Amino acid sequence: MNTPPEAGSTAGGAGRARPENRDAFSVPGGKLPLPELAAMKQRGDRIVMVTAYDAPGARFAEDAGIDVVLVGDTAAMVVLGHEGTTVPVTVDEMLFLTRTVARQVRRPIVVGDMPFGSYQVSDEDAVRNAIRFVKEGGADVVKLEGAGPMTPRARRIVEAGIPVMGHVGLTPQSATMLGGFKTQGKTAEAAEKLVADAHALEEAGCMSIVLEAIPAPVAARITRELRIPTIGIGAGPDCDGQVLVYHDLLGLTEGHLPRFVKRYANLSREIRDALEAYAAEVRSGAFPGEEHTYSMSAAELEAFTT
Ligand code: KIV
Repeated sequence: MNTPPEAGSTAGGAGRARPENRDAFSVPGGKLPLPELAAMKQRGDRIVMVTAYDAPGARFAEDAGIDVVLVGDTAAMVVLGHEGTTVPVTVDEMLFLTRTVARQVRRPIVVGDMPFGSYQVSDEDAVRNAIRFVKEGGADVVKLEGAGPMTPRARRIVEAGIPVMGHVGLTPQSATMLGGFKTQGKTAEAAEKLVADAHALEEAGCMSIVLEAIPAPVAARITRELRIPTIGIGAGPDCDGQVLVYHDLLGLTEGHLPRFVKRYANLSREIRDALEAYAAEVRSGAFPGEEHTYSMSAAELEAFTT
């Protein structure tokens, strides 16, 4: 698992002040203990999760006091440029991103998202790849999508000593089977199936479950009935925690966004404006100015130019 650096170290950013013992749930100078998530559910303290894929994002999440950082396979779309699908991202690509995030954060729990193809084939394959996420990626927890045949996969990974986060509802890796990126559990029958799936994943040993794009009353019932925390994305306000994709909430994603996204910034506008201003100043000669330029002494300049 991810071994936090010693308290007081400046790992992850030269001289950057780290909040120590931020609250009652943290181990001083270290990782949020996993059982605290269940304790937070009991206390009614909401869990905050966000995705991150690189060192600056991980650092910002840590410094904002985020509890759980998910290195999501949404990386396929928001980082790697695959259009409208998470399917192509590979284990090696996810490990690279997970390692980058894990080496930056101390307190937040790091969840490595197992990509499509890394756990569907067999229990052995699932366990082998989950071990890679922990040993090579530095993840504290792995996440996998779906229930049904994936439930024994989750169980086997847990039996290998690796905490697992489940994910039901809209599971983007199977979007084609689901008929697209659509809300799930909208009929009573489908909703009952989601409830049963969530119970099965809890019984298999999952430490938490993501509920994606399902009606709020269904998420509320699952949250009420499970002992483990639920983390919602498009699942209403009654989940034990919420997760959003970093690029969506910061306004880096352009174009259509799902209804469940709230934008807290418009960074793509700021970045575009900054890059356009830079390009214009280079072309006009306004950049670099005097203050960005190194000089040399008059004597050295004379020696140099004569
Ligand atoms: O990959 C991801 O970012 C996710 C979240 C949307 C929950 O699975």
